[in-house]
Amino acid sequence: MYMAHPYPQWTKEERRDHFAGTLTQFRFLGLADFMSGARFLDVGCGTGNRTMKVARHYGVRKYVGVDHSRASLKIAQCVAKEEEFDRFVGIESDLFDLPFPDDSFDIVLSQGVLHHTPNPLRGLQELVRVCRPGGLIALYLYNKWNHWRHNIQKNKVSRLAGPDFERRFHMAHRLYGRKPIEEMTPEQIATFYDQYCHPHKSDHTVGETLRWFDQLGLTYWGSYPPMRFGDLLAAAQHRGKLLTESPTMYSALGRMLVSTALKLPSVEIGKPPFRRPTLLHAIIFQMGYACQGSSGAYSGGPGFSVRKPS
Ligand SMILES: C[S@@+](CC[C@H](N)C(=O)[O-])C[C@H]1O[C@@H](n2cnc3c(N)ncnc32)[C@H](O)[C@@H]1O
Repeated sequence: MYMAHPYPQWTKEERRDHFAGTLTQFRFLGLADFMSGARFLDVGCGTGNRTMKVARHYGVRKYVGVDHSRASLKIAQCVAKEEEFDRFVGIESDLFDLPFPDDSFDIVLSQGVLHHTPNPLRGLQELVRVCRPGGLIALYLYNKWNHWRHNIQKNKVSRLAGPDFERRFHMAHRLYGRKPIEEMTPEQIATFYDQYCHPHKSDHTVGETLRWFDQLGLTYWGSYPPMRFGDLLAAAQHRGKLLTESPTMYSALGRMLVSTALKLPSVEIGKPPFRRPTLLHAIIFQMGYACQGSSGAYSGGPGFSVRKPS
């Protein structure tokens, strides 16, 4: 499906609008301090729209994007050109068999990818393999609790339309589309495919992801959004300070958090590693996600970063 419909399909302006959010994300995942001069691997990079600017901003030594969709990598090359960034290398490969020796990268990122594979834990092990000792691994996965209503919708689409993703698209549009297809932007169409039409997805709880890290002997490093309240407040204030450069915020919840945070006393950003969320933090976050999911909204859960032991 991602060969026929690469994702995401942002314009240059949309990349700029997302940039401040991505910078905040990299700071609170604790990646920002590691990026300068890093060998940076993005597994399932898609069109590179989400990461190209940030790789350029921090001055990585090399940004290697791996994806099994050749069409997405072709767009990623155009994105690199548009951003005047010559350190991007796209490689067509399967994430379960990455064409790199052990310990090849300083930072390994995978956003919104492992939950589209039959064995996310095995995928994570492959990310860990190619990360050097002392390097960082970051991943985003769908959250089990905020997709409960979305899954009902998605399952209905699959039941009525069968496995063909083009039929799924038209069924999903008939049931949940908000405007005629001709009026949808390329990004809205790509997102609609990503939401309703892909052949496989799994959802994961915060606790499950943290247990994988323990099982693989990885040290907790940070999350985005941060799950400890002081860090969450600091993140909202940090994003708020970037509002003049990047005023567009896509999430209503994000806008509300930022405007509230800016009215509160300023909180200093801690130094990574950030403190690991307790069971209570995880439960509170999961409950928040469950409320968010009641609208049928589809989004990733928190991203996590971990450090591979030296
Ligand atoms: C939802 S998109 C995410 C793209 C990008 N990481 C982002 O966040 O904008 C998932 C991407 O993972 C890629 N992908 C899925 N399974 C893969 C696999 N087994 N090996 C390599 N790439 C894969 C898809 O081709 C697609 O581009």
